[in-house]
Amino acid sequence: MKAVHKPVLLTQVKKQIEGLSERSRFVDATLGDGGHSLMFLESFAPEFLLSIDWDLQSIRFVMSSQLDKAKDLGYHVVLAEYDPVARRLKEDQRDLDAKGGGKRWYIVHSNFVYLDKILENLGVKSVDVVLFDLGVSSRQLEAKKRGFSFKDRGTLDMRMDPQTQQVNAYDLLNFLSRKELVRLFVETVKMPKSVASKLAEEIVALREDRPFGDKDDIRRLNSIAYKIVPVRRGSRGRLHPATLVFLALRIAVNTELSNLSQALPLAFKVLNPGGILIVIGFHSGEFDILDRFVADKSYKIIVPSLQEIAANPRSRSAKMYVIYK
Ligand SMILES: C[S@@+](CC[C@H](N)C(=O)[O-])C[C@H]1O[C@@H](n2cnc3c(N)ncnc32)[C@H](O)[C@@H]1O
Repeated sequence: MKAVHKPVLLTQVKKQIEGLSERSRFVDATLGDGGHSLMFLESFAPEFLLSIDWDLQSIRFVMSSQLDKAKDLGYHVVLAEYDPVARRLKEDQRDLDAKGGGKRWYIVHSNFVYLDKILENLGVKSVDVVLFDLGVSSRQLEAKKRGFSFKDRGTLDMRMDPQTQQVNAYDLLNFLSRKELVRLFVETVKMPKSVASKLAEEIVALREDRPFGDKDDIRRLNSIAYKIVPVRRGSRGRLHPATLVFLALRIAVNTELSNLSQALPLAFKVLNPGGILIVIGFHSGEFDILDRFVADKSYKIIVPSLQEIAANPRSRSAKMYVIYK
């Protein structure tokens, strides 16, 4: 099975790491299709790589497609799950690798807000590189019936981890008050208040007619997005009217902004002096959090070249923050 997701700014991430003197322990907080993780293994052969993803389908994809490559590179691969209630990885999974020794690749199903706890469980006190490549992968966007994309036909689910998350996107559409819906669109994606108010009004009218929660969800939401949200043309091209509406719902369902705010200081804390934290963000909500976080730190921002944008259109809104400790 081939990776659907083309890693964003892969060469740039590699270049930043090449400049480090110590690079033996890595964390990829957002495994996805494994593009960045595999580059770490192939280019830097770290003694330890922890790759985390909240979406079991991403983990399954990597387990079924990338393991042979990792084993050929001499890695012991351990799949594990972090249990936030018990605050630990399952014992047997952790021990499996400890016996093996050598270079280790831990692939852990978890929200990245627990990355420090996972490292603690693995007996790793500090690392040299932490990467976050935020948002969803092309595999998730293209997955039928998960409702991440306005091109889908399924119900509006959008949960990254349906096992543990109770609330999905159609619950938000059905149960948030008109005022809360306005706040959601204004606060998460900076939609103008007048547009957000009209959108919220239409959502309330639609759900009074028939609640959201069936295969017609996406068509219904698209139709009001087209009616209400103006098409934006910026330096980075034309934005589909439904893009912001879907993005706001996805951010809210997965508490993406609060996950990022929580995880950044934890990631910085586990870095060795001289290490780097690399964060690739894609929208203003993430950039605001990142700008506040880097304000008192040494950092640089890298954006994709025109060639990269042409080869990988998904990178067009990306900004990569390289933060030094
Ligand atoms: C843009 S993709 C990463 C792509 C990856 N770098 C690659 O090259 O294939 C983002 C991934 O992060 C995961 N993710 C998003 N929020 C997360 C969170 N809070 N904790 C763990 N994983 C998360 C998503 O499930 C998705 O697989």
